[in-house]
Amino acid sequence: MIRDEERLERFLVDESGLGRYPAEAAVLVESRAEVELVLRLALEHRVAVTPRGTGTGMTGGALPARGGIVLSTERMNKIREIDFDDLVAVVEPGVITGDLQAAVELEGLFYPPDPASLSSCSLGGNVAENAGGPRAFKYGVTREYVLGLEAVRMGGETLHTGRRTSKGVTGYDVTGAIVGSEGTFAVATEITLKLLPKPPAVATLLAVFPDLFIAGAAVSQVLHLGARPRALELLDRTTLEHLRGRTPYRLPEGAGAVLICELDGEAEGLEAQLLRCANACEQAGAVEVVVAQNEQQRRDLWETRRRANPLLKESHKHKIPEDIVVPRGAISEMLHRVDAIAAAENVVCATYGHAGDGNLHINLLLDDDLPDTRRRAEAAVAQIIRATLDLRGTLAGEHGVGLLKSRFIPWEQAPPLIRLQRELKRVFDPEDLLNPGKIFPTTE
Ligand code: MLT
Ligand code: ZN
Repeated sequence: MIRDEERLERFLVDESGLGRYPAEAAVLVESRAEVELVLRLALEHRVAVTPRGTGTGMTGGALPARGGIVLSTERMNKIREIDFDDLVAVVEPGVITGDLQAAVELEGLFYPPDPASLSSCSLGGNVAENAGGPRAFKYGVTREYVLGLEAVRMGGETLHTGRRTSKGVTGYDVTGAIVGSEGTFAVATEITLKLLPKPPAVATLLAVFPDLFIAGAAVSQVLHLGARPRALELLDRTTLEHLRGRTPYRLPEGAGAVLICELDGEAEGLEAQLLRCANACEQAGAVEVVVAQNEQQRRDLWETRRRANPLLKESHKHKIPEDIVVPRGAISEMLHRVDAIAAAENVVCATYGHAGDGNLHINLLLDDDLPDTRRRAEAAVAQIIRATLDLRGTLAGEHGVGLLKSRFIPWEQAPPLIRLQRELKRVFDPEDLLNPGKIFPTTE
């Protein structure tokens, strides 16, 4: 247990930019038995517990909003099993996502979910937030890979949910309910994950566009092709300017926006598919299409893409990260609306993200703390959320709701649905002690 102020500090912040939330102590558990003990004592003494993976969350899910104890699973970091025949991995929650990917790939297997922070985020955190990533476009998000969970409820009772088999419909989908519950239902202590055979070949291209709107329109063209990229990512001019010269891949000068399109599958036929994507981009107005020539270039390109969030963050005093999703057909319209909102409120936005899924990370960049700057940013955020909902989108694509977006939930969901979810929370945690204060606004 950590109580010492200096050592406690890193457990009180995350990547949301929401600042520091004080807590009494952090407990670094090493086993299920320790999780059970902490949650039993916490209920007995009515102490709030905030579960935490590695703190890479973007909406404050791991911040101890009501103080109490931070329960860190970072030391539960063993890969217990990789089974080639069953296509299953069994892991502890503190395993780093990229480490599991590397380990299964050595066996010729594949774990697709690839959040940008994969070198530092943990699978327990991914499960809590139902994390996505570029490859979600073809392969789906974390929930689709969680077959079963061992998870401890507040009070210390352990549940074994789900299964090891690829199919199974016994009872309610409790596994699916815990995944994405942002650590408010239970603390996962063991995760059974579905694996796939590793795709034999991968090909990646970067298409350069004169502006964001042409790139946005190109997304639909690529999608209409019949090709099935595994990732289709968009980066706007502002994001590119923050990356240029600071990343392993040399980004083209003067680009208004880029699309990164990646395909996988059998080597035979992949080149033809890549060509089709390249042609679609050119027809849509790309001024240049560059194909990654080897594995190193491909890795450099993705490393560059993954640096978007940290480099934007370190270049500005504040970065407000939005994570909206619009139906694919509305991407262009959404980009136009964001542009108009940013101009009207005089704020700078950097937009990038998983365009193939309609999931755009719209980041508001602030360089001072003046009340007027904050007011304009808040106004822009509200209008971005309104525009998203107006286009039949959703306010959180993969970063969760946490503390950052909870006030907008009633804009998207009607009272009966919010009530039902609150009742569900009470079933898991009647005293509201496990990660309290998250997802739903404290006052309705
Ligand atoms: C990403 O796609 O880079 C991550 O979701 C983090 C972010 O929002 O920037
Ligand atoms: Zn993302």
